[in-house]
Amino acid sequence: MERKTTVIAQDDLRRQQEICEQIKNGFLAQGVTPRAFVDTYGCQQNEADSERIRGMLQACGYAIVDTEEGADCIVINTCAIREHAETRVYGNVGALVHTKRRHPGQKIFLCGCMMGQSQVAQRIKESYRHVDGVFNPHQLWRFPELLQYVLKTNKRVFATDDSSGNIAEGLPVVRASKLKAWVSIMYGCNNFCSYCIVPYVRGRERSRQPEEILEEVRGLIAEGYRDITLLGQNVNSYGKDLDTGVDFSDLLARIAGLPGEFWLRFMTSHPKDAGKKLFETMASHDKIAKQLHLPFQSGNDRVLKQMNRHYDSAQYRELVRQARAAMPELVLTSDVIVGFPGETAEEFEDTMRLIEDVRYDALFTFIFSPRPGTPAAKMEDPTPKEEKNRRFDRLCDAQNRISLEIHQAYIGKTVRVLVDGREDDVLTARTEGGRLVRLPGDDDLIGTFQSARITGCTTWSLTGELA
Ligand code: SAH
Ligand code: SF4
Ligand code: F3S
Repeated sequence: MERKTTVIAQDDLRRQQEICEQIKNGFLAQGVTPRAFVDTYGCQQNEADSERIRGMLQACGYAIVDTEEGADCIVINTCAIREHAETRVYGNVGALVHTKRRHPGQKIFLCGCMMGQSQVAQRIKESYRHVDGVFNPHQLWRFPELLQYVLKTNKRVFATDDSSGNIAEGLPVVRASKLKAWVSIMYGCNNFCSYCIVPYVRGRERSRQPEEILEEVRGLIAEGYRDITLLGQNVNSYGKDLDTGVDFSDLLARIAGLPGEFWLRFMTSHPKDAGKKLFETMASHDKIAKQLHLPFQSGNDRVLKQMNRHYDSAQYRELVRQARAAMPELVLTSDVIVGFPGETAEEFEDTMRLIEDVRYDALFTFIFSPRPGTPAAKMEDPTPKEEKNRRFDRLCDAQNRISLEIHQAYIGKTVRVLVDGREDDVLTARTEGGRLVRLPGDDDLIGTFQSARITGCTTWSLTGELA
């Protein structure tokens, strides 16, 4: 399935901008300000896409609101990673029948990864007739055109052609935060881990040009952003599809070399592509946060092979050793799947051993969910659900204990934090490693870096005071 990266022509994007203007002028002529609500499921990649969708909606004259009730346009950006994610979407889309009944002019669009599966788009077409439009991740940049079609004709539209892996530069954007920004540096994935739907719904890996990324980050810094996260399904293979000679470490170094006060983070790293150059680059730049999300998925070599992960447990452990040797203060997190088809009780013990040995700061734990069309969905899976749940609970208990122990060791220390908001009567802040700190203080500290003395903790967060 070789696919060529297409950078969407500026003319085509300009055409979309013109359509935004037309829609906006139409509303102005009627003297109305329509409202739009964008709901996001799934990962940061989807959050980043939703910020573009809000950008396009705003360019079309919509005011962005935070509830579906009474909205003139609803866009639901969906996730297909696990069955549970899809079930929630179906439930919530189903419920919109009633919302639309109360507001008959409402236009409802579904997009995101679920819409990259033809059987899902078909089901929406047949059984969710109150949905006006569907588009997959490749068609995102065409949203203004699709919206205009629906507004003009009152007909339904299904844009689910996945023939091109494309990159659209310069789409308008409404960011959710004034401090933290997502920057997609690449799209898609080539890895085909046997359980994962992402390569099917988001297409092949394609990297943005380094200059485009640098330009976006420069703009963010100028606007006052202090915490910038580079996004990709496998950031460590950034640039392999370009002939710029700039790999991910080079890109990090260039961004970290920009003037300004900010933290630079990234996710996700695939262990097969991470290594010394990355760790040394991280270690040698103060602005690169000493935080690494390095999913291991399983601690057992047979399971890793079945998962098509291209590393074994010994290689993974060596990678962690190298990372910590370069950055002793590193905050390390990971993803793990419990109950992969055929995982035996003993094989699961290898996963338990790995987390006890590595001692992650935090872990994102998932029970295997078969995704139609992936190889793992066809594998024998004799382990009963109850047994998988028991393994899952043991894993979570162990990790919670480890997270708490690691957090307890912060008590008495003074750490640099970025104050990023308020929650009830305390300020919220993040450490360089991304740990949440709650501390008393005034609102005018929001957006500044401060020193905080840590005085207490829970499994999931720290408490402190300004030092
Ligand atoms: N590209 C990233 C992760 C993307 S999905 C990476 O390779 O690490 C986020 C996490 O969801 C994965 O790391 C995996 O742990 C989990 N996941 C993906 N597919 C899954 C499935 N079918 N069942 C359960 N968990 C899954
Ligand atoms: Fe999925 Fe694997 Fe790609 Fe991550 S690297 S998105 S888990 S196929
Ligand atoms: Fe992300 Fe879910 Fe798609 S995790 S890439 S939104 S399938």
